[in-house]
Amino acid sequence: MSSRKPIIAGNWKLNKNLKETLAFLAEIDGKLPSEDKVEVAIAAPAMYLIPLVHHRGNNPLKVSAEMFTSKIQVRSQVKHHLKHSQTKELNILLLVTQNVANISTKQMKTSIKKAHALFAAGVTPILCCGETLETFEAGKTAEWVSGQIEAGLKGLTAEQVSSMVIAYEPIWAIGTGKTATAEIADETCGVVRSVVEKLYGKNVSEAVRIQYGGSVKPETVEELMSKENIDGALVGGASLQAASFLGLLDIYK
Ligand code: 13P
Repeated sequence: MSSRKPIIAGNWKLNKNLKETLAFLAEIDGKLPSEDKVEVAIAAPAMYLIPLVHHRGNNPLKVSAEMFTSKIQVRSQVKHHLKHSQTKELNILLLVTQNVANISTKQMKTSIKKAHALFAAGVTPILCCGETLETFEAGKTAEWVSGQIEAGLKGLTAEQVSSMVIAYEPIWAIGTGKTATAEIADETCGVVRSVVEKLYGKNVSEAVRIQYGGSVKPETVEELMSKENIDGALVGGASLQAASFLGLLDIYK
């Protein structure tokens, strides 16, 4: 475990309706660990960002969102400006006015432009990387992820990289129940950190927080978080029910 503050973020993707969102908030009310120990966030569907912000009360819960850059969006020239007519995207201005704290950006091609726009708007990006099963089985994970990180950080300053979050999410472990072993996750998060060191130096690589994501559960989180290079988790399935979300945070109580 390092001295960096861990960040545990639930990613609801397109799950939950308004009633379920409010019920979740009621169930976790007063039960989150102290902000001094861990940063806790939920990335919700765009429609529920505002209810989350307004109904989280005094709970130390950051509200986040996911911008997924699909191939279709890449082809149709995603806009990165504050106001635009792209209907499938989140409007950064809306996120800022609603006090949304961080955004995970998946896929590299346009993520870098988004990261710039997010920093300009004062929102922290979580930049996601990860390989397919084919790449993993071919033993090319380090090479693939290094290339993604080099592309994904291009043009960002040392200060920006120090304050952002990177998530290593092997595609083969997302929603499959197959968690990378803590050793594999730590090794690849270490690869990410070494790329950051090569590009920005030791101070930045020691400051940047790197999460692991992919079938993380309350039963597996402790071992993952005990690793030197893993500074948190980006969690889908196990973040949907309040009990298992709180279970992910038990180690910080
Ligand atoms: P699961 O935890 O359901 O595998 O999802 C991980 C993920 O995609 C978080 O962004």
